[in-house]
Amino acid sequence: MTLEESFRRLWHELEPIGRNQLTGGYDRFAWTPVDDELRGWFRAQAEQRDMAVVDDRNGNQWAWWGEPGPGAIVTGSHLDSVPDGGAYDGPLGVVSAFLAIDELRAELRVGRQSVAPARPIAVVRFADEEGTRFGVACIGSRLLTGALEPERARGLRDADGVTLADAMRAAGTAPEHLGRDDEALARIGAFVELHVEQGRALVDVPAPVGVATIVRPHGRWRLSFRGEANHAGTTRLADRHDPTLPFAFAVQAARAAAEAAGALATIGKVRVEPGGTNAIAAEVHAWLDARAPDDAALRSIVAKIVTRAERCADQHGVTLEVVKESYTPVVEFDPSLRDRLRKILCARLGAPALASGAGHDAGILAAVVPSAMLFVRNPTGASHTPAETAELDDCITGVRALRAVLEDLAC
Ligand code: HGY
Ligand code: MN
Ligand code: MN
Repeated sequence: MTLEESFRRLWHELEPIGRNQLTGGYDRFAWTPVDDELRGWFRAQAEQRDMAVVDDRNGNQWAWWGEPGPGAIVTGSHLDSVPDGGAYDGPLGVVSAFLAIDELRAELRVGRQSVAPARPIAVVRFADEEGTRFGVACIGSRLLTGALEPERARGLRDADGVTLADAMRAAGTAPEHLGRDDEALARIGAFVELHVEQGRALVDVPAPVGVATIVRPHGRWRLSFRGEANHAGTTRLADRHDPTLPFAFAVQAARAAAEAAGALATIGKVRVEPGGTNAIAAEVHAWLDARAPDDAALRSIVAKIVTRAERCADQHGVTLEVVKESYTPVVEFDPSLRDRLRKILCARLGAPALASGAGHDAGILAAVVPSAMLFVRNPTGASHTPAETAELDDCITGVRALRAVLEDLAC
C-alpha cells in the first residue's frame, strides 16, 4: 500500500467519530462517549502496530515503540475539537505520527526483522486540548507538567454543572490521581508536535511544511454581567438593569482595544440567562479570548476591555465579575531543537520558521522538556470551522518530514 493509500485509510477510519452530520464539522469533547470512541481508535492503532498503550494519570494516551524509558522521542497531538470544529486541528498530528512510525519501521526492517530505533519512540494523544467542555485549554498537558493544579482541574464545571472529576468517573477513569507526572516527564527526551497550520503563512511563502518559533501569549477570561430580570413589555427603559448592554459594549471594546494594539480579541461564546425573548436578561456570561504579540500588550488590552466594560456596566446598574480561566505566556520553542529540525528539512522543503498565534500542547510541554512543532500548509487558513482543510500531497509531505525528524532524533 502506498503512503497516500495508508493516509486515506487511516483518515477514513477516524472521520465518522464525532462528526456533525448537518455541518460536516466535529464535536469531539473531553470525557464524552465520542471521546471514548477516540480513545478506542487510538488504542486500536497502537495495538495494530504492536505498540504498548499506556493511559497516564491525567487522561493522556501513550503508544510505545520500544521500551518506555528516558530519552524517548515523543510525537503526537490531540483528537478533541472546538464546537463544530475542523477535521485536521489535532488529528493530523496523531495520524501523521502513526504513519511516520510505519514509514520508519519499513525503512529499518532488515529482511523480516523489524529493528527498533536506538531511542524509544512514543505517540501521545493529549486529553482535552481545546478546553471546549471545561473552559481551560490543554488540560491534559497542563496537568502532566504541573501547570494546572489537580484540585482546580477536578472542580472545573461544564455548561451543565458537571465537574471534570465526575465526567472522568462517568467515563471510567479515576480523577484522584491527577497531577504533575515526573515519571512520565523523565521519559521525554524531546517532543515534536505536527499540526495543521491555522493561518496562511505557508501559502504566502510558499512551502508545504514550516517549523514553529514561538507561540504568542494568549488567554481566556469569563466576564459575568449581572443585572435584573424583568418584563420586556412593561419595564420602562429608565428602570432597567439590562446586562446585555455592557456585554454588547464589551464586544466593541474588545475589537477597538485589539485594533489599537495590533492584537486579537474575540468573544465567541456567550450565555444569556434565563434566555427568554420577552424578558430582560438577568445575567450574561461571555468568554473573552485575547492574544497579542507580547505579554505586556496582552495584559494591557485585557485591562482596557475590562475597564470600559465596567464603566458601561456601572451606568446600567449592572455588576461585572471577571475570572481569568487560563493564561499562557509567550513560549519560545527550544532553539537548538528548532534549528536541528530546520536543518533536517531545509534542503528539501525550505521549512520556513513561523510564529503560532494558536496555542498547543507543545507550547505547554516546552516549559519542561525540549519541544518543537512542524506545521503543514493550510490552503485557506481556515481553522476551528468545518472548512478547515489540507491538501493530501501536503499531508504526505508532513508525514515524510516527521519521519525524517524521528529518524534523526531517535536512530
Ligand atoms: O485555541 C487555540 O489556540 C488552539 O487551537 N487550541
Ligand atoms: Mn484548535
Ligand atoms: Mn490543535
